[in-house]
Amino acid sequence: MQRLIPVLNSDHVPLHLISVINTLLTAAKEISHRLHQGSLAGTLGSTLDANIQGEVQKKLDVVSNQLIKNMLLETQLVHAVASEEEDEVVMGNPDAKYLVAYDPLDGSSNIDINGSVGTIFSILEKPDHPAEGTELFLQTGDEQIAAGYILYGPSTLLVMTTGNGVRVFTLDHTVGEFLLTVDTVTIPQETQEFAINMSNQRHWTTPMQKYIDDLLRGTEGPRAKNFNMRWNAAMVSDVHRVLTRSGIFTYPADLRNPDKPCKLRLMYEANPMSFLMEQAGGRATTGYERIMSIQPEHIHQRVSVIMGSRKEVDTCLTYFKKYPCNRPDAK
Ligand code: F6P
Ligand code: MN
Repeated sequence: MQRLIPVLNSDHVPLHLISVINTLLTAAKEISHRLHQGSLAGTLGSTLDANIQGEVQKKLDVVSNQLIKNMLLETQLVHAVASEEEDEVVMGNPDAKYLVAYDPLDGSSNIDINGSVGTIFSILEKPDHPAEGTELFLQTGDEQIAAGYILYGPSTLLVMTTGNGVRVFTLDHTVGEFLLTVDTVTIPQETQEFAINMSNQRHWTTPMQKYIDDLLRGTEGPRAKNFNMRWNAAMVSDVHRVLTRSGIFTYPADLRNPDKPCKLRLMYEANPMSFLMEQAGGRATTGYERIMSIQPEHIHQRVSVIMGSRKEVDTCLTYFKKYPCNRPDAK
């Protein structure tokens, strides 16, 4: 089985970018180890006990953030990082060109129940025009040069793209290396499986209500087939299932709170996952526009997400064309 670095070399990925990715993976191995140890390493629960110095230890999502941030900045190859756990962009080497946006521990409510969680990353380059801080990151998803996630499940997997298809690597704990296990991920175009938090049903906008209604009607409805539903409540593991065996994953905008109609973040959740989806032959949209075409306005901006098997996402989009949206700011 091939190791990660020779695979990236043979893809002509620049050496410095390989180093940045490899550094992310060094942090991921440490996170994987701590998750694997669970209560033995004191990682479960929403806060940890005080350590021997009497200091309050941090939750694993905070620890993961610091591990990734510090390791990336130490390489001197990273110009700035943006993290779900940091209000502001953190600056690194002024002469370096890489920008890394990441969600250190996605789905972290699953830690307490020994469920799957993940780390999501999106790598950009410093723009050509003069920019500072947050402005650096305000690039569309199309500008990503690499993206992926590490899924901490029964196995620890790296799923990534550098714009040349999607590959899966599995962490071999005995040698501490990610080894290539799937060379080309291709999402089946059609599916009979969907992923959505059904408890929000009454809050969805009309197009999503109508679309899911028709899925639930199964063979007796207009879709004339039965659909299965799965929801792990961790985007990484829900998206991984879709990439692996087909499906449609959505966290749509809803009407609960007009100030916060969407849940998932564009820069370090939706964009990297959309890059993977498209590279694997799938689609990723808000219902109104392609996710990777969105011009971001803020690093923590949220977005409506519909992604997965191409034909199923296209069918979902017909509902957004057919039914007017009852959310005033819909786009
Ligand atoms: O990061 C946000 C997130 O945890 C995703 O990983 C996941 O898809 C979603 O929120 C789960 O949301 P809910 O709690 O509504 O099921
Ligand atoms: Mn997340």
